[in-house]
Amino acid sequence: MRRGSIVQLVLLGVLFGGGAAAVALLIPWLPDPASEQADRIDFVFWFVTTICIAIFALVAAVIVYSLLKFRARPDDDSDGPPTHGHTGLEIVWTAVPAVLVTAISIVSAVVLARNDHLPQASAAGARDPLKPLIVKVTAQQFAWLFTYPAYGNATSSTLRLPLHVPVDLKLKSLDVIHSFWVPEFGQKQDAVPGLDTHVVVTPKRLGTFPVICTELCGLGHAVMRSWTTVMPRADFLTWANKQKSAAGGGASGSATASGKTVFVNNGCNGCHTFKPAGASGTVGPDLDKLPALARKAGKPLDAFIRQSIVDPSAYVEPGYPNAMPGTFASLPKEQLDALVKYLSGGKG
Ligand code: CUA
Repeated sequence: MRRGSIVQLVLLGVLFGGGAAAVALLIPWLPDPASEQADRIDFVFWFVTTICIAIFALVAAVIVYSLLKFRARPDDDSDGPPTHGHTGLEIVWTAVPAVLVTAISIVSAVVLARNDHLPQASAAGARDPLKPLIVKVTAQQFAWLFTYPAYGNATSSTLRLPLHVPVDLKLKSLDVIHSFWVPEFGQKQDAVPGLDTHVVVTPKRLGTFPVICTELCGLGHAVMRSWTTVMPRADFLTWANKQKSAAGGGASGSATASGKTVFVNNGCNGCHTFKPAGASGTVGPDLDKLPALARKAGKPLDAFIRQSIVDPSAYVEPGYPNAMPGTFASLPKEQLDALVKYLSGGKG
């Protein structure tokens, strides 16, 4: 091969490699990582992408060079020279991909193992009193419910997490297969009925990120979304301890106060109007009119409210969709009692 040809090949390779690298780098394909696990996943992504760009540049350069250099002239009807393979080349193009694929599997296996591992102490080590946090994640058509066993089984419809603390999310589904995904956390895991699955996340950046269901689970799949907020550890402890005392049934506060907390934490205000809570949602019936609704349904107020929370399909107010999730059937009894009392205005 002449020197000029090699220079042409190299220039073509640089051109295609540069173009592919620009597409990879200039378009924000992945969200900015917000967990240690997402950092590792990003590393694998870039490791594979770099290999792909190099192979693409090589193949594209050789193809385009051959098209230009060895193209038949319009008046050339002769056959090409007979060739019979090239053992050296064949060994190279078998060995190189084998090495690359092996390298990718090793890197992936290491990252998968590390992302699955739940560290027993967070990054700050022995000085840090916060052990790995366990959060139970309950999925049901079409809502998420997050329960904090370490804080009196307090529940929340949004996921609040402390910064830099490893979290073990224990997933459970009450009906069909759902899948828990926060793009910024990288990790994704299915919630399967009858199976205990879990996923580890160590948030490394403050902020609020979407929680998305990524398994087609029915008509409401597209709206099965929530939010996760990564908070400074002190703020998280303040919040969690407040939820704990509210969930405890109001030993230190009135039942009305904790009823309101249960109402807001479980996202009731997102869909319903209820003046005492300052809620103005319009997806579901107006809860200020509960006594009238109960009369219409022919039920005593308290029993009507309780049934509507734990078994929302049992009676659906005409004109409204049967869209309320059944997840609230798993509310701890004290919280359910407080919520019923709060919604009935203490009456009934
Ligand atoms: Cu739950 Cu899709």
